Formats: sequence, C-alpha cells, structure tokens
Amino acid sequence: MSERVLRMGMVGGGPGSFIGPVHRRAAELDGRIRLVAGAFSRSPEKSKAAGLSYGIAEDRAYADHRTMLALEALRPDPIDLVAIVTPNDTHFAIARDAMQAGFNVISDKPATATLDEALALEQVVRATGRCYALTYTYTGYPMLREARALIRSGTLGKVRKVAVEYFQGWLADPEELSGNKQAEWRADPARSGIGGSIADIGVHAFNLVEFVSGLRATRLQADLGNVVPGRLLDDDCTLLLRLDNGARGILAVSQIATGERNGLRLRIWGDHGGIDWCHERPDILTLNRADGISEQRHAGWNGLSAAARAGSRLPVGHPEGFIEALANIYGDFANAAHTGGAAGDGLLQGIEEGVRGMALIARAVENNRAASGWSTIDPAA
Ligand SMILES: NC(=O)c1ccc[n+]([C@@H]2O[C@H](COP(=O)([O-])OP(=O)(O)OC[C@H]3O[C@@H](n4cnc5c(N)ncnc54)[C@H](O)[C@@H]3O)[C@@H](O)[C@H]2O)c1
Repeated sequence: MSERVLRMGMVGGGPGSFIGPVHRRAAELDGRIRLVAGAFSRSPEKSKAAGLSYGIAEDRAYADHRTMLALEALRPDPIDLVAIVTPNDTHFAIARDAMQAGFNVISDKPATATLDEALALEQVVRATGRCYALTYTYTGYPMLREARALIRSGTLGKVRKVAVEYFQGWLADPEELSGNKQAEWRADPARSGIGGSIADIGVHAFNLVEFVSGLRATRLQADLGNVVPGRLLDDDCTLLLRLDNGARGILAVSQIATGERNGLRLRIWGDHGGIDWCHERPDILTLNRADGISEQRHAGWNGLSAAARAGSRLPVGHPEGFIEALANIYGDFANAAHTGGAAGDGLLQGIEEGVRGMALIARAVENNRAASGWSTIDPAA
C-alpha cells in the first residue's frame, strides 16, 4: 500500500523570512510531506499573503498558531505535523500547544529560549507521546552521517580530540540597528534568549560534535564576547570542552568574523586517524590516516555506509546541499511519524538534544560570567 502524504502546518515563514521557505522546499522535496496550512506571521494579513505565495487554500492561512491548531483539529483532513520556524522565544509555547492538541512537531533550533522551557517541553513530549524533532540541519548531510558511521565502526580508533569552528561575518556591524529583521531579534535577549552567537550557531556546532563523535560533552570553559559596541548578546564565542571519554575539544563560533559566510568545519581525531569536513564542500569527507595517507569520500559513492548512501538522491559527482540535508531530516521525521515515533538509528535529533543545546547556552553564559579560567602570561607577574 502506498504511504499517505503527511500534511504540514507551518508556524513562521512569513514574507521575507529566511528559514521558513527553506523548510517548505525541504519538506516537500521527496513528495512525502505537503505544506497545507500555516500561521506564517504575527500579522494576519502577512500570514494570508504568505499562504497565497505558498499556494495553500485561503482558509488555511491562519491568524495565529492557536487558531490553526483549533480549526485544523475540526477538519476531516487535518495537518499531521507542525513545523516551527519562528524566533526562539516562541518555540516553547507553539511546540507545547501543538503536541497537547495531538500534533507531531518538527522545530528549528534552539529548542526554546531558556533551559527551563526546554526541560518543561521534555515533559510535554513524554506526556503526549508525540514525535518531536529538531532541525539541526547539518546532521542531514550525508558526509557527516558517513563520519558518524566511520567513528562508530572504530575506523578512527579512540577519539582524543575534536575541533569545530563555525564562522560568520554578517553581524560584524550593528545590523540589528539598520532594519535587518533577522539581526533584530537575534540581538534582542527578549526574543533570542540569553545566548547570541552561542544560541544561534554554537548549538549547531555543539550538536555536530556529539552527533558525529557519538560522545557527550560533560564540561566546558567559555569565553564569550560582545564585540560590536552596544550589542547586548555575545557575537563571538570560544569554548573548551571535555567529552565523556576524556577527549578534549575546542568549539569556536563567531558572527563577527568579517568576510566569512557560513564557515562550518568539523575535525575529529582518534588514535588511528582523523576526519575533516567543511560546509563549503559538503559532498566531501576527508579521512586522514595515521600512516599519512589521506582519502576523500564523496557523497553518492556506492561504498559509503548505509546511512550516508540513504542521504543522497544523486549519483556521485552531482552536488547536493542545504535543502537536501534538511530534506533528509524531514524524511527521518516522516519515518518516525509513520511508525509512531521510532526514530531511525539515532539520526533524528529530539528533545534530549534540544535540552543539551539549551544547557550548553546556560552553562557557557554562567561560566563566562564567572571568568575564573584566565591566567596572566606576564613573565614578571
Ligand atoms: N537550522 C538552521 O540552519 C537555521 C537557519 C536559520 C534560522 N534557524 C532558526 O529558525 C528560526 C527562524 O529564523 P529565521 O532566520 O527564519 O527568522 P526570520 O526572522 O527570517 O523569520 C521568522 C518568521 O517568523 C514569523 N513569526 C514571528 N513570530 C511569530 C508567531 N508568533 N507566529 C507566527 N509567525 C511568527 C515572522 O513574521 C517571520 O516570518 C530561529 O529559531 C532560528 O534560530 C535555523
């Protein structure tokens, strides 16, 4: 019997927004999910306009998420899942309301605006038994799934060091004061939460370390900076990490790295070799072996692990990118929704990873405030 196409309602993704339209394309890419409803903006008029642009029925572009949940529940063909693509401060209430109304939820990161909210949301996921997943987009890239499989199979040996960097330059100037909508809410603690760059891109980097290494980070030391004068939240962040097998890690993220675009790079070294992956060439994973020989693995190659092969739609040599990576997460989510929540092999990132991301932000901000980890280099001191 053919699989039923899942019906999606989106919250956020209004005119001029960044990630909502990307979610719509990714969700629909494989024909398993279709956007049929939404509360796309806090303005009812803009929600209607967005609904029109997405080609959904006029009466399914709602004024707010509560109306969407209430009216969809009355339909013979209601939505199956709610995609949340709004600023951070709204994630908790929308996810809670949607799950309590009986809908599955796929939310963009960070899970919530505070650690307390994330812990409360964890209880809601447990109590309602709904599928809940976070779109840590990079976990959808086939070559990061290959890196994860290589480490799980022992190819690198014991992991001893991780280094993740995520450098952007788009907030090198006070963009939040010049009408840039994306910058405005990210720089506002009331809408973003207590973290700036650490909440916006640090959680991606942190999640990747844990996703690919299969290890958990247990301790950190943080150096957070508000480099642009007057900015209320961090725009630059360096963390030292300790992982639960004793490995050491460096996590460096910045949004004031002038001239950088979306420079995410992950390196992990074990006692037999290391992996190196860079977002500007996401279809390649480099494996550096202890004997000095390096090997490049390419997305779409038949010799990859099953998880990586399943993440490519095209043969080797035909690049795929960000939308396809997000589509892989939507595919995993569709599998989980069809099977009642059994997420495939730990690929889907859920509330546990959401809580960990929020704990990272909270502990990094606390640790940075305590500023206890510095020593002078002054030879005379
Ligand atoms: N996974 C990724 O790679 C990735 C990339 C970018 C952003 N994000 C995350 O996605 C979220 C949105 O980021 P963005 O850059 O698209 O923001 P954005 O400002 O471009 O878009 C936000 C949209 O949400 C709408 N909105 C705000 N409050 C709403 C509400 N209560 N109900 C309905 N709509 C509402 C706004 O009108 C706007 O259309 C953030 O949490 C961000 O951290 C994730």
